[in-house]
Amino acid sequence: MSKLDEATVVVVGAGIMGAGIAQVAAQAGHRVLLHDARADAAGQALDKLRGTFDKLVAKGKFTADEAQAILARIAPIDSLDAAAEAGIAVEAIVEDLEVKRGLLRELEGIVGADCVLATNTSSISITALAGGLEYPGRVVGMHFFNPVPIMQLVEVVAGLQTDPAVADTVFALAEAWGKTAVHARSTPGFIVNRIARPFYAETLRLLEERAATPAVLDACLRGAGFRMGPCELMDLIGIDTNFSVTQSVYEANFYDKRYAPSLLQREMVAGGLYGRKSGRGFYDYAGDDKAEIAKFPLPEAPPSFDTLAVHGDEPLADRIAAALKSRGLHFERVRDSDWSGLQADSARLRLTDGRCAAELGRDVAVFDLPLSDDSSGMALAWSHSARASAEWVAAAPQWLALLGFNPVRIEDAPGLVVARTIAMLINEAADAVQQGVCSEDGADAAMKLGVNYPAGPFEWLDGWNTRAVIELLDRLDTHYRGERYRVSPWLRQRTWREKSQ
Ligand code: NAI
Repeated sequence: MSKLDEATVVVVGAGIMGAGIAQVAAQAGHRVLLHDARADAAGQALDKLRGTFDKLVAKGKFTADEAQAILARIAPIDSLDAAAEAGIAVEAIVEDLEVKRGLLRELEGIVGADCVLATNTSSISITALAGGLEYPGRVVGMHFFNPVPIMQLVEVVAGLQTDPAVADTVFALAEAWGKTAVHARSTPGFIVNRIARPFYAETLRLLEERAATPAVLDACLRGAGFRMGPCELMDLIGIDTNFSVTQSVYEANFYDKRYAPSLLQREMVAGGLYGRKSGRGFYDYAGDDKAEIAKFPLPEAPPSFDTLAVHGDEPLADRIAAALKSRGLHFERVRDSDWSGLQADSARLRLTDGRCAAELGRDVAVFDLPLSDDSSGMALAWSHSARASAEWVAAAPQWLALLGFNPVRIEDAPGLVVARTIAMLINEAADAVQQGVCSEDGADAAMKLGVNYPAGPFEWLDGWNTRAVIELLDRLDTHYRGERYRVSPWLRQRTWREKSQ
């Protein structure tokens, strides 16, 4: 397979994605032929790109000469016949298997035998698209993210018949275009759209259980370093779009309950509550509905106690110990404890292990997994046992505030917010790696670059503890029953691998 450095690129579909792909290819020096079934669409896309480059020149990102040269490399074409000498065709037309197949067949009749046929599909099987073609080995997914010129990730997706050399060539091409490419195997949702499902699903489930409001859930996940919480992000993406991706991953997995969509989301779609674009989703964009939550006041003095103890031996326990020390408080250190957190007399403030506070005793409060080291003032979910005394219910959040968090109480849901979400993201990524969809590094890069996660699932796993993740998921599984929280075999195997080291 020859390299495509100098190849003419034909982009079919001059919509939002096709125009972006044409732009990055032209910026990388390629001659680009842009075609759309709708007359004038390619010309209009080029006009729009002119406007974009005017702005980029005004901002100093390009000189006027560079912008002109880039734009001059893009030629709208009325007929695909003009694409005969292309080295690669990238299609970004309507998301429909039969229409895309028809286009690929048409292209096969026009381009040379070694022209790569790449598709920007986000949900259709690459194997299915290649089926019935004369040279199915040259069909490969080249999945860009929106907006193409800004988003760094390209998933290079191989179907069952994709020639590995073709996938490697497209990988190198994406990198030459300034992107970070990640290899993926064609499976529902590829990497990003699959691994990201629990980010929305766990929040939707907590909403369905009335455990917390959208504003609280969003604040907790922002507190964990996500740029946006799931509700505000679904409102931005479009509740309908997000629902249809979830539904397509669910259907494509033979209705595996793990991916079951949410009734709440379906109801919102049915009612036209699409998010920002319709003025209302989880938030009301016409009113002053805000995604912010109140700040818990920092107590002037700690709640009263006779004895204090810090349980656990990991960095979180060290962090609690350091916070108490900095306030001049005396405490005992119980390093070989089977839980982590703070004990004031007989009352306990425990890091969630996937059980509800009520399961753990009377004066028990549980708090969420603090993901970032600098959580100063960041929202952190906590809940308390239904049997907890009024004094402990009042004292627990004060202790959390003294430890540097902004405590937000939610109902007594197992695994709270961040812990269950991160555990499920790790679990999904682990399954993807087990099934050969991507590598661990590939999953981390894809989630950071494709959806701006603050870290990749395997980076979270390295900073947490495989056994604790499994334990938490097993407890969610016990609590809910069903397929959703079944532990990835890859995670269990990892504990065996760790043991043998
Ligand atoms: P779009 O609706 O903005 O553009 C599609 C364009 O394709 C339209 O201009 C339409 O006239 C043209 N078209 C339709 N059928 C055609 C045909 N048979 N031959 C030539 N042109 C045809 O859609 P968008 O958002 O750009 O999506 C395009 C593809 O990229 C889809 O497969 C979509 O799933 C995928 N994608 C979209 C992302 C997004 O965020 N919008 C992200 C990643 C992938």
